[in-house]
Amino acid sequence: MTLPRMQPGDGVAWITGASSGIGEAVALELALRGWTVAITARRLDQLEEIARRADGLPGRIVAHAGDVTDPGAMKAVIETIESVHGPIALAFLNAGIAPDSNGLLDIEAFERTIAVNLVGAARGLAAVLDCMAPRRRGHIALNASIAGYGGLPGASAYGVSKAAAIHLCETLKFDCDRRGIRLQLVNPGWVDTPLTRRKDVPMPFIMSPQEAARRIADGFEQAGFEVSFPRRLSWLMKAINLLPYPAYFWLIGKAARRSGTKAI
Ligand SMILES: NC(=O)c1ccc[n+]([C@@H]2O[C@H](COP(=O)([O-])OP(=O)(O)OC[C@H]3O[C@@H](n4cnc5c(N)ncnc54)[C@H](OP(=O)(O)O)[C@@H]3O)[C@@H](O)[C@H]2O)c1
Repeated sequence: MTLPRMQPGDGVAWITGASSGIGEAVALELALRGWTVAITARRLDQLEEIARRADGLPGRIVAHAGDVTDPGAMKAVIETIESVHGPIALAFLNAGIAPDSNGLLDIEAFERTIAVNLVGAARGLAAVLDCMAPRRRGHIALNASIAGYGGLPGASAYGVSKAAAIHLCETLKFDCDRRGIRLQLVNPGWVDTPLTRRKDVPMPFIMSPQEAARRIADGFEQAGFEVSFPRRLSWLMKAINLLPYPAYFWLIGKAARRSGTKAI
C-alpha cells in the first residue's frame, strides 16, 4: 500500500533517544532537510546543546526531556510537542541501550534492555499512534537492528529486544496501513556511537552516525517498509538466517570463534 510521504510542511518530526549517536545525527540531518525536529531523551542539557547546533539550518530543533521507561512520559511529551510546535507528522523511535552483562544470562541487564528497547519503543509507538490515528495520516519509524535478524552469541538481551521490535513492527504494519499511517522499520548495521564505542567486538563495515543518518533520512523519503544498511551486511545476515539450524549455528559459531566475539 502506498501512503503519502510526510514533508516538513505536514508537521514536526519527533525523535526519541536523540541526545547522542544515531538520534542526534538524524535530528541534525532532518533539520538540514527543513524539518522542525522535537528531540527527547533523559539528558536535557545534551539535547539543548544539539538544538543550538541547528541554528542556521533550514529547519530547527527543539528539546524536551522524556524517559521512555516512564509510563506517563511519552503521552505527556507528545501533548507538549503538539500543543507548542504542531502535529507530529514523522516519529523516529530510536532510544536504545546495550548494557554490559554479567554471566550467562544477566537477568538485571535483560530486564533493563527490554524496558528501554522494546517496552519503551512500544510506549512511544502507542502514544503517537493515538495522535495520528484520528488524523489518518503520519509516518512512524522504529529503530531496531540487524542484530535482531537471528540469534547471535552474547546478544541474549539486546538481540531479543531487537528481534521483538522487528516483530512488533511487522505485526502493526497491517493495522497502520488500514489507518493511513506509514510504519517503517530501520535496521542499521554497526554505527560508531557511544553505544558501540564501549564494546570490544569486531564491527564489520562500521559507519559514521552522519552517514547512517543520511541513509535513514533517505529511507524516510522512499516507499519501502525496511531501511537497512549497509546492504552487504544486511543481505548477508538475511541469507544466513535462511539456512537450516545446523548450518546456521556452525557458520555463526565459526565466525564468532574466529573473531573472539563474547558479547554484543
Ligand atoms: N550503534 C549501532 O551500531 C547501532 C546499530 C543498530 C541499531 N542501533 C540502535 O540505534 C539506537 C540509538 O543507538 P546509538 O548507537 O545512537 O547509541 P547512543 O549514542 O548510546 O544513543 C542512545 C540514545 O538513547 C537514549 N536513551 C537511553 N535510555 C533512554 C531512556 N530510558 N529514555 C529515553 N532515552 C533513552 C540516550 O539518551 P539519554 O541517556 O540522554 O536518555 C541516547 O540518546 C538504539 O536503539 C540502538 O539499539 C545502534
